Amino acid sequence: MPKQNIYDNEVFFSGYKGIRDQEVNANVLFEIPNFFEMLPSVEGKKILDLGCGFGEHCKRLVELGASSVTGIDISVKMLEIAQKENADSKITYIHMPMEDISTLNDHYDIIVSSLAFHYIEAFKPLIVDIYRLLTEGGVLVFSQEHPFSTCYRNGFERWTKDENGKKLYLNLCEYGIERENESKWFVDNVKKYHRTFSTIVNTLADAGFSIEKMVEPTPDETILSQYPGYRDLFHKPDFLLIRAKKN
Ligand SMILES: C[S@@+](CC[C@H](N)C(=O)[O-])C[C@H]1O[C@@H](n2cnc3c(N)ncnc32)[C@H](O)[C@@H]1O
Repeated sequence: MPKQNIYDNEVFFSGYKGIRDQEVNANVLFEIPNFFEMLPSVEGKKILDLGCGFGEHCKRLVELGASSVTGIDISVKMLEIAQKENADSKITYIHMPMEDISTLNDHYDIIVSSLAFHYIEAFKPLIVDIYRLLTEGGVLVFSQEHPFSTCYRNGFERWTKDENGKKLYLNLCEYGIERENESKWFVDNVKKYHRTFSTIVNTLADAGFSIEKMVEPTPDETILSQYPGYRDLFHKPDFLLIRAKKN
């Protein structure tokens, strides 16, 4: 099955890097803090990071006490930055698609993935592989774009706005149709795979996982006072985070 590697597209890469280099963005305010809060203690743990990108999480996991971290990514450009900016003797970066993790001859106490699963078409085999690679009682923590975002096809007007352009509410559309959706993000034809909430949860349960926690981050008063635009997240969360345990 051909796999998308959009992060190696020059235009996409520099657009994405521009966002991640900003001091404040949705990742910094919502995704990253919730992601790290959902982790169990990483002290002395062996960790696998799927779609590690720039390796920022790998580095932080080592700083938090992980004994080793393996970061894998399909993008050469992302891994180049990881090696340059987030290298560590306890971190190994591997260039490979996460669809191939069954070839890793190892086991991990914790497997993490931050904002990458919506790029994966074959979700069920990936979750089965993750379950197999985890040690008994091991934990998977992942974030992905929320299913209320992945459901849209290119060009659909997501928001009903007032005459001043203020977002009033979300126009939810074809949420129940699971499919590959193309959107424009820096470049045309960025593919994301839409799965409903129930499919995501049932896939984890069918593989043998217990769901321990789910989070759909919304802003608190401190964030709202500085960045009132994030009030939109009360209509539609941008991120879904799940912690699941191997039984
Ligand atoms: C939004 S970035 C997130 C990077 C990092 N996890 C973070 O949160 O900073 C998504 C990453 O997933 C990677 N990715 C996408 N599809 C992948 C695949 N099939 N296998 C491995 N990595 C993939 C991309 O190359 C990119 O680095």
